[in-house]
Amino acid sequence: MEIERLGRTCGARITGIDLTDDLDTATIAQIRASWLKHRVLAFADQRMDDDALERLTLAMGGFGEDPFFDPIEGRKNVAAILREADEQSPLFAESWHSDWSFLRKPPSGTCLLAVEIPPIGGDTLFADQAAAFAALPNDRKDYLRSLTAIHSAQRGYAPDGLYGDNDKGRSMAIRPGKDALATQTHPLIRPHPETGEEVIFSSLSYVVGIEGMEEIEALTLLSELLEWQTREEFIYRHQWEPNMLVIWDNSSVLHRATGGYDGHRRELHRTTIAAA
Ligand SMILES: [Fe+2]
Repeated sequence: MEIERLGRTCGARITGIDLTDDLDTATIAQIRASWLKHRVLAFADQRMDDDALERLTLAMGGFGEDPFFDPIEGRKNVAAILREADEQSPLFAESWHSDWSFLRKPPSGTCLLAVEIPPIGGDTLFADQAAAFAALPNDRKDYLRSLTAIHSAQRGYAPDGLYGDNDKGRSMAIRPGKDALATQTHPLIRPHPETGEEVIFSSLSYVVGIEGMEEIEALTLLSELLEWQTREEFIYRHQWEPNMLVIWDNSSVLHRATGGYDGHRRELHRTTIAAA
């Protein structure tokens, strides 16, 4: 397994491994260690189908819960991130987020398998939130450590949310609902569940407030924080290739989609890895 660093703080390209092989415990441990170190792993030249994607997800920790997507036909745990060539709906997942951070136990990671990759555009951006926290001044770190964030899926998946009842013409099988109104708190600076590293666990997609703080004050703080979290020096811009599988550490990076491929179809298959 060869590892080539890609971004300034996170992201690595992995070659020399076939993920459709029966992976032994030592190899899985090596992948997990690289994953926690580089946060985003891009495995090139993989010929994986949905069976292989499911096997790898199980080996990495089992399936996470996916509350607002319907799976693809015949599968329980594989969803399609899909955009048709002529689709007019707003781009999916264009704002920064950590997947399903509003759950009590958010997934530890997400796997995305390239099925159909447009010749241009469609990069995925990742922002390293351990690096973003580490670079803050000490007094700011102390203040942020004292705060508890309120997470909710409401802005995206409630009936009146971005992907709710008024979202028409979308090819993805999104399943909005009233349960998106639920809230869940997490420390704003959340120790990484496996490494203990301090990570900024916040986005404007899923954080709707801060405990004990007026909403307007909280949103101002969260907006300013997000600008810091997504500074250029923390970002790895991932360019997709056919036959590529990407796994990211959902506890330590934010990610978002980008467009730029109008007129081309794009499809990736996605699983989440359960919390450790
Ligand atoms: Fe996502």
